[in-house]
This record gives sequence, C-alpha cells and structure tokens, in this order.
Amino acid sequence: MHTSPTPLPGGTWTLGDSAVTRFGYGAMQLAGPWVMGPPADHNGALEVLHAVVDGGITHIDTSDAYGPRVTNELIREALHPYPESLFIATKVGANRDAQGGWPTARRPEDLRRQVEGNLKALGVEVLDLVNMRMGDAEGPQPGSLAEAFGTLAELQRDGLIRHLGVSNVTEEQVAEARGIAPIVCVQNMYNLAHRQDDDLIDRLAADGIAYVPFFPLGGFTPLQSEALSAVAARLGATPMSVALAWLLRRSPNILLIPGTSSAAHLRENIAGAGLALSEEDTAELDGIGR
Ligand SMILES: NC(=O)c1ccc[n+]([C@@H]2O[C@H](COP(=O)([O-])OP(=O)(O)OC[C@H]3O[C@@H](n4cnc5c(N)ncnc54)[C@H](OP(=O)(O)O)[C@@H]3O)[C@@H](O)[C@H]2O)c1
Repeated sequence: MHTSPTPLPGGTWTLGDSAVTRFGYGAMQLAGPWVMGPPADHNGALEVLHAVVDGGITHIDTSDAYGPRVTNELIREALHPYPESLFIATKVGANRDAQGGWPTARRPEDLRRQVEGNLKALGVEVLDLVNMRMGDAEGPQPGSLAEAFGTLAELQRDGLIRHLGVSNVTEEQVAEARGIAPIVCVQNMYNLAHRQDDDLIDRLAADGIAYVPFFPLGGFTPLQSEALSAVAARLGATPMSVALAWLLRRSPNILLIPGTSSAAHLRENIAGAGLALSEEDTAELDGIGR
C-alpha cells in the first residue's frame, strides 16, 4: 500500500518534462559483490525498491550493466507497472566481462543493443533518460563523443529514448554533446571531497541542466575526513547525512542518487539529507575538497 509520503529534502527538479524528487536512489548496490550477479538477499533488494517508492522518491538511476541486468530486473519485479511519477534513468557505454570488468562498448551497434537490453529488462517501450557514459574507471578521458552520443540522439529520434544525458565526461565533451542534441543532465563523480566539477555545476545550473553526482557518499570507499566527522559530531548526525545535506545545499541543480542495499540505510539517508547546515558548518565543509 502506498501512503502519502512527506515531501523529501530538497524538493523537486524538472528533468526534461518531468518533475523528479531531488532526493533519488542509485540502484547499483542492489546487485551482488562488485556489481556482479544477484544480491545475497533477493527479498531484501525488493524491499529497498518498495521503500524507495513508498518514501516518495521519483528518480531511480540504474544500468543494464549492473549485474548485468540484475538491478533492472529487480526494479521491474518490484515496481512494474511503474507509478506514473517514477522516472528511471539508465546509462550505456560499457558491457561486463566474466571477471567483473567493464569493457567499453560504444560502437553504434553496441549502443543500440544496450538500449534494447534496457528496454527489455525494465519492461518499457521508451526509456525516460539514457546517459552516454564516457571515460573509464579512472574518470573522464579526453576525446570526441560525437559518434556515440549521435547514435543515442538517433535512437531518441526513433522514439526509444525521451531524454539524453552524459556521464563521466569532461567539460569539452559536455559542450560537444550539447551541440548534437539537448541534454537534461550530467552525471559525474562528485562529493564533499572531490570538487573537480565545481565550475561545471554552476554553469549547468545557469542553463537549467541537472548535475547528478555519482559516489555522493564516496562509493566503494566511504568518505573520510576529520572536518566532516567534526561537523557531524557537533550536529549529532552521521557523516553521511552531512555529506548529503551539503550536496543538496551546494546547488539547486544537484540531484542525489545515493546507493544502498539496505532499506534501513535508505530511510536514514532520506531523513539525514534534511539536516539543516548553518553558514559556519557549510564554510567548514567547503574547505574539505578545496
Ligand atoms: N555514471 C557512472 O559512471 C556511475 C558510477 C558509479 C555509480 N553510479 C551511480 O551512482 C549511484 C551511487 O553510487 P554508489 O552507490 O556506488 O556510491 P555511494 O552512494 O557514494 O555509496 C554507497 C555506499 O554507501 C553505503 N551506505 C549508504 N547509506 C549508508 C548508511 N546510511 N549507512 C552506512 N552505509 C551507507 C552503501 O552500503 P549499504 O549497501 O550497506 O547501505 C554503499 O556501500 C549508483 O547506485 C549508480 O546508480 C554511476
């Protein structure tokens, strides 16, 4: 049963033509260890996804490469037929190999296959948003994204994708993509301690484009900082709550997609992101990644 959830911290943002909650959910942690295979606790994973929707979250980030297919199939099992308000963002650009690696797959035929794979696994006829993921595990790499992003723009014209975004990209690649087709978001690594995109975030905000930081809590290596721990202790909060509240305050175009495999952590994070930070707290936190 869906109760009427209280408004989420951060309110909403309009992605393309859809209002989504700025507090979203990243589904990657639902797959097995190192994002391979099924979760140890299948029902626990479904419970997390129900808690996402019951908590009022309307933005889920996923990829058919997670598992592979595992997170998309869990999302479908838990939530299909999807509530009209739910916006599911996915990404393409890599496959998985038997060792759990993420080999690049960005030729037009690879991308078409990945888009078709996402449509099938999620059980939809049109994908709400597809991010063209560039770069590699080390981060964004220079080079043209024209062929890859142009293929997604064609698939959008074919009616298979509503909105486009880019991920793991340099500022030059963002500009190149925008010269090919409109984008509604950029998804790059960013958090309290990794502030390399500060200027990009501000420029995107001015143009009404969302910035979706991945690894908002540090990803596979939790954020650790004395200053963060000190502010959290002073406020009687967890460092994770402080990190999420800081991101919401950083810029109105930031959308959160923290990942978790635990419904309890999800609820903790929703509540924690609403933490009020003073000017003094914010100034101290701003010093961490600068
Ligand atoms: N575009 C890209 O290249 C890219 C790359 C990576 C990720 N992503 C997206 O970004 C999303 C977020 O990234 P992420 O999940 O890797 O990293 P994250 O959100 O920074 O951190 C997730 C980690 O934090 C832990 N955690 C979360 N809440 C917690 C709490 N309240 N207490 C203790 N531990 C907590 C989780 O463990 P538990 O499961 O135990 O809670 C998990 O290990 C992913 O789900 C994915 O959708 C995109």
